[in-house]
Amino acid sequence: MHAIGIDIGGTKIAGALVDDLGQIVRFDRRPTHAVDIQNIEDTVVAMITELADGYDVAAVGVAAAGFIDAAQSTVYYAPNISYRNEPFREKLERRVPFRVIIENDANAAGWAEFRYGAGRLVSDMCMLTIGTGVGGAIVSSDRMFRGGFGAAAELGHMRVVPDGLPCGCGARGCIEQYGSGRALLRYANELADAGGVGIALAAARTRVGVLTGHEVSELIQAGDPGALAALRELGHWIGQASASLAAVLDPQLFVIGGGVAQAGDLLLDPIRQSFLDNLPARGYHPEPEFRIAELVNDAGVVGAADLARLYAAQI
Ligand code: BGC
Ligand code: NA
Ligand code: ZN
Repeated sequence: MHAIGIDIGGTKIAGALVDDLGQIVRFDRRPTHAVDIQNIEDTVVAMITELADGYDVAAVGVAAAGFIDAAQSTVYYAPNISYRNEPFREKLERRVPFRVIIENDANAAGWAEFRYGAGRLVSDMCMLTIGTGVGGAIVSSDRMFRGGFGAAAELGHMRVVPDGLPCGCGARGCIEQYGSGRALLRYANELADAGGVGIALAAARTRVGVLTGHEVSELIQAGDPGALAALRELGHWIGQASASLAAVLDPQLFVIGGGVAQAGDLLLDPIRQSFLDNLPARGYHPEPEFRIAELVNDAGVVGAADLARLYAAQI
């Protein structure tokens, strides 16, 4: 039976009707407004209704960028969207004729990679999504690790700098402030201001005022030394954090996803390097692999749909 997956991002909502082999049958993408919860809800309802039209739908999985409860109903908190104890499932189930589960966005993406993508051959995998925030998913012994309150694997909020930069979660020094797409832009702008590394970055900075993801990813693709230095800085932080994660979780594989992962090996190389430099018991602890996510932009919707189907089959 088909299931629907919805993935709510900071600027857009993706939705898909997915079959039981993880294949997307229908796809939809709409812009959204990160601070307007009602607008998000209305858009999600409209998308579900259109995606379901003419099909039997087992369940709907909605992936959101926040801390989710164990009942998969409520978004406790989201650092970059204005959800606070949002009873999202209840609201949606009132408006669509399907069972709905709410899932963390990175968990959904990680599950899709585990089932159908880069992680399909391992039992223990850790995913980091590098976008506006840093998301995490942990698959341990073939199961999603959810913790006691449902909100486990918020890997973006591991502290990597004591009393470091303030984070949207209310704490300080989280890896999200050093290893996210936003951090990448901060590094790029700082490097441009400092001059020194290449000239293209500084020239672009002068041209556009503040460098955005668009300029920085173009400069990365063009091999600009300044943009690559910014990317290495990000990779350094992610690699370090992964070394600590390896000590805790001992995965066979780290999957790196999110928008910044489009940089491919340019990102993986510095991650691997700093991972090894910081790995406890290096040389003796087997070394996990690092791979870029395979399902790229579809991981969230495919994973959310798959988890919703599994959930519906259990009850
Ligand atoms: C949120 C996570 C989310 C991640 C990626 C973080 O700021 O706390 O729930 O998975 O961003 O969107
Ligand atoms: Na997560
Ligand atoms: Zn944080």
